[in-house]
Amino acid sequence: MVDHNERRILNTWQRNADSWTRAVRDGTIASRQQVTDQAVVDAVPLCQVTSVIDIGCGEGWLARRLSESGIVVTGIDATHALVDAATKNGGGHFQCLNYNELHSLAAICGAPFELAVCNFSLLGESSTETVLAQLAALLQPAGRLIIQTLHPAECNSELPYQDGWRQSSWDGFDSTFTDPAPWYFRTLSSWLTLLRHHGFSMQKISEPLLPSSKRPASIIFIATLTP
Ligand SMILES: C[S@@+](CC[C@H](N)C(=O)[O-])C[C@H]1O[C@@H](n2cnc3c(N)ncnc32)[C@H](O)[C@@H]1O
Repeated sequence: MVDHNERRILNTWQRNADSWTRAVRDGTIASRQQVTDQAVVDAVPLCQVTSVIDIGCGEGWLARRLSESGIVVTGIDATHALVDAATKNGGGHFQCLNYNELHSLAAICGAPFELAVCNFSLLGESSTETVLAQLAALLQPAGRLIIQTLHPAECNSELPYQDGWRQSSWDGFDSTFTDPAPWYFRTLSSWLTLLRHHGFSMQKISEPLLPSSKRPASIIFIATLTP
């Protein structure tokens, strides 16, 4: 069941790569425009970091933004069309790679990195654990990790507050988006336990707010690899 869901996540991104690229580049996702893009950029200590790995980089907007500050960015993503789109627009070195192949970067691609960023890209159960398990080999000692994801208190609706797979939808996106994939919901304590289990200590949690409702648009974890 879990592997089936992880596969559906990848299939969905393949199917929707062009629509996603258009939506991100045309700025049609309101929460990103209003809050979450700037929130993740603000979480990166621009003056102190020179090398970043953007895990699940999509069409590469974050690499382009960070490269404007002189940061060297490596972006990886399993969706060919998104990696192609990222490569065309530049701003980093992009590679088509599934999360379970991340370890191969240690040998070839500018590792160890000072910082890893996962911007709305940890969507599954085992795939998220796979990313975290490989980061110690990719990051410098005391390297940092930034994860921006859906806020557990905002996205669980009426379902029990416990980890588990959830249905998603493309509500709010245009009609070219199809086949929404399931995603794996984690409670706040589950995120904290998972990060600690993989050797990260939490430095900061931020909860950027939507300007209209003053409700959290996301949650951002900033953690450091403990020696
Ligand atoms: C919501 S998009 C976010 C993209 C980008 N971080 C951004 O902020 O626009 C999620 C991305 O995660 C990638 N992804 C999901 N599961 C993956 C996996 N197992 N291996 C590699 N990439 C994956 C998808 O291809 C997709 O590009």
